Amino acid sequence: MTSPDPPRAPVIEVRSLSKHYGRRNEVRAVDRLSLEVYPGETFGLLGPNGSGKTTTIRMLNGIVRPTSGRAVVNGYDISTQMDDVKRSTGLLAESPGLYEKLSPREYLEFVGSLYDVDMKLLKDRAERLLELFGLEQRGDDLLEGFSRGMKQKVLIAAALIHDPPIVFLDEPTSALDPLASLVVRDLIKDLAEKAGKTVFVSSHILSLMEEVCDRIAIIDRGKAVAVGTVTEIVELSGTSTLEDAFIKLTGGTGHPDALSWRKAVAPA
Ligand SMILES: Nc1ncnc2c1ncn2[C@@H]1O[C@H](COP(=O)(O)OP(=O)(O)O)[C@@H](O)[C@H]1O
Ligand SMILES: [Mg+2]
Repeated sequence: MTSPDPPRAPVIEVRSLSKHYGRRNEVRAVDRLSLEVYPGETFGLLGPNGSGKTTTIRMLNGIVRPTSGRAVVNGYDISTQMDDVKRSTGLLAESPGLYEKLSPREYLEFVGSLYDVDMKLLKDRAERLLELFGLEQRGDDLLEGFSRGMKQKVLIAAALIHDPPIVFLDEPTSALDPLASLVVRDLIKDLAEKAGKTVFVSSHILSLMEEVCDRIAIIDRGKAVAVGTVTEIVELSGTSTLEDAFIKLTGGTGHPDALSWRKAVAPA
């Protein structure tokens, strides 16, 4: 939770990155986005539904190609070195599937085999991940009997099985109940602090982002409208909370989504 000082060379560098969809490219899912993420930091992409978070993450994982602009991830160009990018990153997708008839140990070994990880190394790594995530006692139980929070832990462990330096978590707590969400929040903190990973997390949940991120980019309709620590964003916007900063920076007056988004995330 400390700001990196002084900033080293970024491990993710995004320059005017755009992705357009539609027959005439009329949907600007991501619109000239620029940002940097430094090694070891937990960086958050905060924005309402449809603001371009998942599209950004897909591009930065070498899954979809940008329409224009460029990004370098772990030294690799996302447009021309997609395989190297994929080896550099682990991804918890927004709605991932899980093989319920496997145990965590089997699932980790299965995912690792897809990455061609050597079997001995794979078994060692699976054990370390089960331990790090507090799952060693349940390593052989079938996933079908696990709670959502426990399943999410296993999915995050699987995203780390090829030991990537960078891990992307797309809406990691959005489908979880409050207790499971707490478990996953603690785990996200451990990823940077104990496992030394660079973490890139996307969410529309303000409290999650405030708690786990060193720096945040607020994204709105595909554009970054503010990047910095929570304190910097609040100062920049002349407000007193991240929530107010969000409303102001995304055009709270007259922004069609701002009010409904506020209702959706504000505590009752
Ligand atoms: N494959 C696609 N085809 C067409 N439009 C898409 C596609 N993926 C995303 N979009 C559109 O791009 C915008 C951003 O979507 P997305 O990146 O999923 O946002 P978020 O993850 O922030 O909710 C939305 O308007 C969405 O409908
Ligand atoms: Mg999304």
